Amino acid sequence: MSTRWYANPAAREFVAAPEPRGVLDFHRSLPGYAPTALLERPDLARELGVGRVFVKQESSRFGLPAFKLLGASWAVFRALSARAGRTEGGWQPDTLARRFAGDPDAPVLVSATDGNHGRAVARMAARMGLAARIFVPEEISPRAKEAITSEGAELTALALPYDDVVRAAADAAQADPRSILVQDTAWEGYTTVPGWIVEGYSTLFAEIDTQLQDAGAGRPSMVVTPVGVGSLLQATVRHYRKLGGSQPALLSVEPESAPCLLRSLEQGERTSVPTGHTMMAGLNCGTVSLTAWPELSRGVDAAVVIGEEDCRRAVKDLEELGVDSGPCGAASLAGARAVLEDPNRRADVGAAADDVVVLLSTEGRAATPVEPPYSG
Ligand SMILES: Cc1ncc(COP(=O)(O)O)c(C=O)c1O
Repeated sequence: MSTRWYANPAAREFVAAPEPRGVLDFHRSLPGYAPTALLERPDLARELGVGRVFVKQESSRFGLPAFKLLGASWAVFRALSARAGRTEGGWQPDTLARRFAGDPDAPVLVSATDGNHGRAVARMAARMGLAARIFVPEEISPRAKEAITSEGAELTALALPYDDVVRAAADAAQADPRSILVQDTAWEGYTTVPGWIVEGYSTLFAEIDTQLQDAGAGRPSMVVTPVGVGSLLQATVRHYRKLGGSQPALLSVEPESAPCLLRSLEQGERTSVPTGHTMMAGLNCGTVSLTAWPELSRGVDAAVVIGEEDCRRAVKDLEELGVDSGPCGAASLAGARAVLEDPNRRADVGAAADDVVVLLSTEGRAATPVEPPYSG
């Protein structure tokens, strides 16, 4: 088990910016919307020494095997509405698509990705009748590349780490005035679109609220989020760090090869890390999003890193329990184990035997192949 550990005892006093309105209604209005499952797994509760464990299974979200379309759809809708200009009553997705049909200056959606986000942007572009240019690190799996081109996008694979691929996509977008850069991380001078992406993720938490109520579980005591650049975790903080109500422990999980949030929390400032190789491709990011950092640094209770073997085991165990989790999704279980199996860490986050724990499983096995020996 990894020895790196960060805990912030003051995190539950933090109050985050309010969540946006209208996002859940927007998603509900899209064809193919259905809440993803929240699966209760008593075996995991027994193993982890808590009351109840639920897994939010993002293995089929609008037909894609990861949660990312939640952010990409809302951001693309907002960005295209802004490009189209204001109309009375606002734009609807269908009328927006018609607005750009046949226009030689129609927007081109540009993005960099480790796989899931870029596929979601490509899917949105296709839905809106627009072109997409997606940049990826060469090292992502052939299957992830094919998934992006299967959406009709133009793919550029670069022999560079993820952070440099993001820069290349931003440069390409800058060079073509038709481009709209749809990136899920913010930096100096580029904050609006990533802000919309974080807003889009709020639907996932609205669903969990209803599903926990239906299961008679009320509010969670702990929520575990896998972290790449921290945008999803920012949405987690926004949702749970509201004034009033019981405050869950919010736990961040990163791969050992790319611990940019843990390192930043340890340093007390946003600090980039070199990224290595990991099967958790979507978490292989070297820099925390600029706009996520202030909320993460104050609102996150604890951060851990997990190794490849911990992740592999979690994928396999979840599969045996009937949960479809790819490596990034299963990272949540591996992270929960790294905290709840250690008495000192349990004490640091105030874990108790009757806790209700929610594990965000952000992708299914179809999103990212697990490297062999998977079944060992
Ligand atoms: C499956 C999956 N889970 C989690 C994440 C992490 O999200 P974020 O980069 O917003 O921290 C990603 C990011 O690409 C992902 O693809």
